[in-house]
Amino acid sequence: MEAGVSGEGDEKVDFELPEIKYVCYGGEHHLPLIMSLVDQELSEPYSIFTYRYFVYLWPQLSFLAFHKEKCVGTVVCKMGEHRSTVRGYIAMLVVIKPYRGKGIATELVSRSIRVMQESGCDEVALEAEVTNKGALALYGRLGFIRAKRLFRYYLNGVDAFRLKLLFPQPQIHPTLLQAAQENSIQISSETSKESH
Ligand SMILES: CC(C)(COP(=O)(O)OP(=O)(O)OC[C@H]1O[C@@H](n2cnc3c(N)ncnc32)[C@H](O)[C@@H]1OP(=O)(O)O)[C@@H](O)C(=O)NCCC(=O)NCCS
Repeated sequence: MEAGVSGEGDEKVDFELPEIKYVCYGGEHHLPLIMSLVDQELSEPYSIFTYRYFVYLWPQLSFLAFHKEKCVGTVVCKMGEHRSTVRGYIAMLVVIKPYRGKGIATELVSRSIRVMQESGCDEVALEAEVTNKGALALYGRLGFIRAKRLFRYYLNGVDAFRLKLLFPQPQIHPTLLQAAQENSIQISSETSKESH
């Protein structure tokens, strides 16, 4: 995901956070809203096929933020098997300028991440321009680590960081561990008896 470019209408808007409503992708009527926000704010061009690929296959992972009737932010994601893990992937994240700095992006991303975790993902990944301080700070606060630097990743020639969030593995209960140990001791003593 690449850095933002200058959009129109940067004037500050007065609003209270409870006025922001978050909705999951709900069908074709949401598509132009997502496209207009992403086209306006991200430097990398996406075709309608790319948008459709994400929202048709993983509608449950994309969210929109509305202030009154206006769409002010969106997140678009996917998930699937990656090597031996199940990986969630954040493809696009945008909040329009007058609404930034209030936690809207954090809320959008957190909703997607929650669904990914509930759906069995082991990790979440994304790419961000190395110069995109806002996005790097946001994801850093959410616990993402910088896994890799990707040389000249974007059309504009800028490098990217691959960021990753690893979900904690479920704890194995100590009694199960003890039972497994006892079982293996028993098996090894039986094997040694047999060999005598
Ligand atoms: C990045 C972006 C989505 C952040 O949206 P936002 O709604 O302002 O983000 P939040 O309010 O949830 O920010 C949460 C945290 O992110 C960090 N952050 C966000 N924008 C920042 C900025 N411009 N500079 C520094 N830190 C920033 C801060 O740690 C902030 O925490 P704080 O509340 O303690 O200051 C928004 O700036 C944007 O749409 N940018 C253009 C598109 C883009 O770059 N998308 C990401 C591509 S990887």
